[in-house]
Amino acid sequence: MADHVCPPIIGYLLLSPLRRFFENPQKLLAPFVSEGMTVLEPGPAMGFFTLPLARMVGPGGRVVALEVQQKMLDKLMKRARKAGLQDRIEPRLVEGGSLGISDLAGRVDFAAALHVVHEVSDMAQFFRDVFAALKPGGKLLVVELKGHVSAVEFEKTLETEKNAGFALETPPIRMPDRSALLSAYRGD
Ligand SMILES: C[S@@+](CC[C@H](N)C(=O)[O-])C[C@H]1O[C@@H](n2cnc3c(N)ncnc32)[C@H](O)[C@@H]1O
Repeated sequence: MADHVCPPIIGYLLLSPLRRFFENPQKLLAPFVSEGMTVLEPGPAMGFFTLPLARMVGPGGRVVALEVQQKMLDKLMKRARKAGLQDRIEPRLVEGGSLGISDLAGRVDFAAALHVVHEVSDMAQFFRDVFAALKPGGKLLVVELKGHVSAVEFEKTLETEKNAGFALETPPIRMPDRSALLSAYRGD
């Protein structure tokens, strides 16, 4: 597990309906997600973004939710069952330094790392794993809160992403917080 992860009590706060006024999952993610896609979501906590993602991918798509805390996944899947979305969400517990997703190599259309990268202990490994899971040209959206991550730290994150093979999309998209959209180009 990462050195410093958000505790379950914060996981409940992150589900607050008021959050939608500041960060609307539909508005943020709909431009990147369509029906039938395979979406990777590292660090979903209790699924503030996961359930909307599951609606966006539809019955023919899936969302792979990677968490280091089983408690978060349990609550996420409880909410998914209540919403009838459990068949579209694959919860996976991350143990050890790697995300453990080699079975997904080249199969993911879109990855969303939302407010999680600052908690990841081995960022280089994290981005290498996500890069390998994405299809060529697949996109990774990274969002961090300004309060959590300084501009300098975010620049360092972008460097790590580029070292993993990602290319920054240009022009950069306008979003709240610190965010970047990256593509997994493999020289193709
Ligand atoms: C601040 S919460 C954000 C949750 C969610 N993305 C949101 O915005 O509501 C970060 C979550 O990432 C998880 N996490 C931290 N490091 C992780 C890693 N290396 N892989 C997967 N999940 C991780 C934590 O357990 C926590 O639930």
